[in-house]
Amino acid sequence: MKILGIETSCDETAAAVVENGNHVVSSVISSQIAKHACYGGVIPELAAREHLAAIQPVVAQAMAEAQCSFADLSGVAVTAAPGLVPALLVGVTAAKGIATAAHKPLIGVNHFLGHIYGAFLENTEQLEQSETYPILAMVVSGGHTALVLITEDGQSHLLGSTIDDAAGEAFDKAAKIMNLGYPGGPIIDRLAAQGNPKAYHFPRPLTGTTGKAVPEEHLYNFSFSGVKTSLLYAVKDRQLSEQEIADVAASYQEAIVEVLTKKAMMACRQYRVRTVLASGGVACNRGLRQALEAACKTHQCRFVVAPPKYCTDNAAMIAGVGFHYLRKGILTDDRLAVNARLSLNLGQIPWDLPKK
Ligand code: KG4
Ligand code: ZN
Repeated sequence: MKILGIETSCDETAAAVVENGNHVVSSVISSQIAKHACYGGVIPELAAREHLAAIQPVVAQAMAEAQCSFADLSGVAVTAAPGLVPALLVGVTAAKGIATAAHKPLIGVNHFLGHIYGAFLENTEQLEQSETYPILAMVVSGGHTALVLITEDGQSHLLGSTIDDAAGEAFDKAAKIMNLGYPGGPIIDRLAAQGNPKAYHFPRPLTGTTGKAVPEEHLYNFSFSGVKTSLLYAVKDRQLSEQEIADVAASYQEAIVEVLTKKAMMACRQYRVRTVLASGGVACNRGLRQALEAACKTHQCRFVVAPPKYCTDNAAMIAGVGFHYLRKGILTDDRLAVNARLSLNLGQIPWDLPKK
């Protein structure tokens, strides 16, 4: 069964053809990073206009590389939520058009579920193994920071998310403040390797380190805007040397990584998690990967991280999830009912769960 996946939730226009949920036949990604760089962040309306220009050639390339026609497809899967709604709308509308014209089913896929599945795309059999569950999925990108728990019975629970900036946004804004370029994550990651993470102290919001207890409702939530403001005051009106910039980057990265790792491990203990998974652009961060890997070793749970090509936004992860909905017949008959939404709700887990 070949599924065409389409992804336009943020600043990547992507299309992929995936066979049987795990064989990536083609995966094409057109990034708009250069168009947004001068603004230091993604402008939703600009993203939508760029998707509009790119969607047709990107889909055509994915189909050509897969050497298949729309008639050969079993269905079309598209990211429907969450994301920038004007951006999502382009992918959803294109997918509706293709599915309707080719008389194929249309599946709306949750982007978080896509990221989670993306981490297993090359090892999907693990999703059917009992020892994999519960899974704690950390989805960290420019638009999202969320901790999702998936239990063996296929229930998903959003334990927490950011109440202001996403982790990737915190990296991007820090780089903008220091005039380092966009996207900030990879730049700070690179600089941090040369810096001293203890040189500056940045806050670790909502972790209880200030001596104030974390309110129950924020136990698994994140807040990064205060860390960014703290950095602004640390560098404001100062002429920093190269070494000082590296030290700021290292200290800032450590603050963010520590918050993410601490909350993930707290969830591990509370929910007896057996697999910790990291996905989204920030999961490329070397400091975060190392910290999570070490913490997972201590907590004796498995650490799964998507290879970089499936960490950042791509359509293969969407087509992969779509395959399972189609196979199970979890579909809407009305293609026009698939709409772009803000909703974080992951809905039903479509893949096969471990047999009891
Ligand atoms: O998943 P993604 O490609 O797109 C979405 O936002 O959905 O993530 C992009 C984000 C950007 O904020 C970027 O700065 C961040 O991921 N990022 C990183 C690294 N590589 C990308 N953040 C920290 N360290 C990195 N190495
Ligand atoms: Zn994403």
